Amino acid sequence: MALKTNSADGRTRSTIQIFIVVGLCCFFYILGAWQRSGFGKADNLAMAITKNTGDCNILSSLDFETHHGGEVGADSDSKPKVIDPCHPKYIDYTPCQDQRRAMTFPRENMIYRERHCPPEEEKLHCLIPAPKGYVTPFPWPKSRDYVPYANAPYKSLTVEKAIQNWVQYEGNVFRFPGGGTQFPQGADKYIDELASVIPMANGTVRTALDTGCGVASWGAYLWSRNVIAMSFAPRDSHEAQVQFALERGVPAVTGVLGTIKLPYPSRAFDMAHCSRCLIPWGANGGIYMMEVDRVLRPGGYWVLSGPPINWKTNYIPWKRPKEELQEEQRSIEDVAKLLCWEKKYEKGEIAIWQKRVNADSCPQRQDDKFCKSADTDDVWYKKMEGCITPYPDVSSSSEVAGGELKTFPERLYAIPRRISSGSLPGVSVETYQEDSKLWRKHVNAYKKINKLIDSGRYRNIMDMNAGLGGFAAALESPKLWVMNVVPTIAEKNTLGVIYERGLIGIYHDWCEAFSTYPRTYDLIHANGVFSLYNNKCNIEDILLEMDRILRPEGAVIIRDDVDVLAKVRKIVGGMRWDAKMVDHEDGPLVPEKILVAVKQYWVAGENSTSSQ
Ligand SMILES: *[C@@H]1O[C@H](CO)[C@@H](O)[C@H](O)[C@H]1NC(C)=O
Ligand SMILES: *[C@@H]1O[C@H](CO)[C@@H](O)[C@H](O)[C@H]1NC(C)=O
Repeated sequence: MALKTNSADGRTRSTIQIFIVVGLCCFFYILGAWQRSGFGKADNLAMAITKNTGDCNILSSLDFETHHGGEVGADSDSKPKVIDPCHPKYIDYTPCQDQRRAMTFPRENMIYRERHCPPEEEKLHCLIPAPKGYVTPFPWPKSRDYVPYANAPYKSLTVEKAIQNWVQYEGNVFRFPGGGTQFPQGADKYIDELASVIPMANGTVRTALDTGCGVASWGAYLWSRNVIAMSFAPRDSHEAQVQFALERGVPAVTGVLGTIKLPYPSRAFDMAHCSRCLIPWGANGGIYMMEVDRVLRPGGYWVLSGPPINWKTNYIPWKRPKEELQEEQRSIEDVAKLLCWEKKYEKGEIAIWQKRVNADSCPQRQDDKFCKSADTDDVWYKKMEGCITPYPDVSSSSEVAGGELKTFPERLYAIPRRISSGSLPGVSVETYQEDSKLWRKHVNAYKKINKLIDSGRYRNIMDMNAGLGGFAAALESPKLWVMNVVPTIAEKNTLGVIYERGLIGIYHDWCEAFSTYPRTYDLIHANGVFSLYNNKCNIEDILLEMDRILRPEGAVIIRDDVDVLAKVRKIVGGMRWDAKMVDHEDGPLVPEKILVAVKQYWVAGENSTSSQ
């Protein structure tokens, strides 16, 4: 080994230093070696011990898992700080959509339902407990129709929406009959009607946005058609609709169309949908439709069903004045004209518009209505402006602005136009292809560590730092979905690429709480998150937020530099997670490591965990 060379050699000296750093075992080994033979002078060793530096990569025979210097430090320092459970009243705590904080903000334009996060000094530093009796949700597709009562013990929807057939309470489960206010014949029949206008069957339409989604039956029933819907609804004082959606295994976040831009890039969705979503589309100069227009891709569809469509027949059952509904529809039609959308369909209570494929199709639009901001994807906490997002330029009148998309699933690995056009600085076609290959390799390695990954055991999956969406693409399966989060501080804004691949995602700042209820993800993947947020916010806060949104017995995969992971590992030691450090699939020499963890099962009112 390294000690065989001349002790006067400087390289050997630095190698000895490395041995010291990598841990006690090595220390004893060196000590033994030193006592055994003549090489290695005591001075050298003493010097090496005081100098605490080293590059571990040279030492192929060492096992990083237990010997790295960072970890030795962590172990010898102290035991991990034990983080206690929060009071049981916090079982449904959503820090940025907290009812009490919301009520201190104006109700005007739904401002009070937007994100309002607790300031630093009001953040909780405890573990959010699960309700008593909590169980792992049913596997998909049963979860589409049944949710265990104990997981979301709120019966108010079953009473309020009883006639509308949203949800029924049966024994210890909720049953979702696939109805909705707008789907008296069931969601499948409703989607059939939409599919007569919108090309869903051949993979042309893949990504959808459901604004004001209720319990997300629309998204749930689109699943079998290979369309993936991002659903959102505001937090409600008691109903917890988005929580039901996530318990059912349908992608959803808490959100509202108020005064702030939606947390999605421009040209993301192939289709947007509102069924009785109570958004005043024609109001405020059409600002809400302009925001939908921004996130809709050229050629994308907008579906509006329910009031005011078909007001002539329905104004009596809706108990609304005829004139008011007529005016409402007229203002919606006016905004649609301004946006240059083409009306494709109106029958019964369903109306469908299509966004044109490029600006050439709309020569009559006035320049002064266009947004001035250069970056249409800079949306985090930015106010909606009431202007039209311009189309990307085209070179011929038949070209689709921003590029025509391949059908799904081909789209998943096709070269996204945002990359081939060079609009994403630093990402070339080659780096994109390399990234795809790398993530297929990483995911294969994950499957060896955790055999359950694509078994259906994990349905709601979060990738906290999704990059180009390689993790989600490699995992793609009808059994699961991935919420691809692009941190607002990420160096590259890749969310547009993720949508171009036919995946879904959202912008988020991990220094704050995510827009979701506790226990809504089965598996969380965090690649480089802690390096990215190093010195930006507290590691412990990010870990506590991960714990909040992770189901009991849910799994975590953290991939990061070994020094950062050592700190993370120490904190999770006090968080009721069973954690294990694993080498990179290329071996122990790679400084990037993987920390895999499982959240223990425990519920409110229990002092200790099952394994302690
Ligand atoms: C998909 O179907 C629609 C409507 O039937 C059709 O217009 C379109 O050309 C089809 N696209 C492909 C790629 O097959
Ligand atoms: C929790 O632990 C404390 C102290 O160990 C004990 O007094 C208390 O009864 C325990 N509570 C429950 C619910 O087990």
